[in-house]
Amino acid sequence: MAITEKSFPMIETERLVLREIVADDAAALHRYWSDEDVTEFMVLDPFAKIEDTQQMIVLLAGLYADGAGVRWAVVRKEDGVVLGTCGFHNLKPEHFRAEMGYEMGKEYWGRGLMAEALAAILGYGFDAMNFNRVEAFVNAGNTRSLRILEKLGFRLDGTLREYELARGRFVDQHCLSLLRRERRL
Ligand SMILES: CC(C)(COP(=O)(O)OP(=O)(O)OC[C@H]1O[C@@H](n2cnc3c(N)ncnc32)[C@H](O)[C@@H]1OP(=O)(O)O)[C@@H](O)C(=O)NCCC(=O)NCCS
Repeated sequence: MAITEKSFPMIETERLVLREIVADDAAALHRYWSDEDVTEFMVLDPFAKIEDTQQMIVLLAGLYADGAGVRWAVVRKEDGVVLGTCGFHNLKPEHFRAEMGYEMGKEYWGRGLMAEALAAILGYGFDAMNFNRVEAFVNAGNTRSLRILEKLGFRLDGTLREYELARGRFVDQHCLSLLRRERRL
């Protein structure tokens, strides 16, 4: 398993283009990454400064350059608006697995847009990156995220009790996974 393409893999779906995150996306992404609601169940605290977002963009580019992950900007085709991001990290090539992450501005929730993006990157993950297993760790209270994974065919492996300290509280994390042989694509 490897990210073999030299240029960043762009993916097109019915309503979306998934492309590399660039410095110019900072303003759009900062709106989401600084939003209490969007980051409520994410490991990171909401970013206070645009510099935090700019740094994260650099970090994500480095992840790809190092072959350690890939994160796409999720862009709406009709108007070029950046809706959020999604991708794979914690790649374990020796085990043919990776972790999936995603987030989107709350004004775009409830339209099946992230489900469309994730179905596309899962196809890429299993076919081009040769994953056998994709996993996701979801805060037990994050029902939207659990629903999207369920729709994509993910199954619950188990619950990691009080796995993370989020905003001063220990929270349970569900671990879900989708295996190559279970994919519905
Ligand atoms: C997780 C997150 C991406 C889910 O977004 P979402 O918009 O609810 O998810 P989907 O793209 O699957 O959309 C599903 C909804 O769109 C509706 N929908 C409308 N049109 C649709 C269409 N054409 N196709 C599919 N679903 C459609 C579905 O009925 C569903 O609505 P419901 O939630 O009321 O049942 C979003 O809540 C988010 O960014 N959360 C914050 C970050 C986060 O928690 N990330 C995950 C960490 S593990």
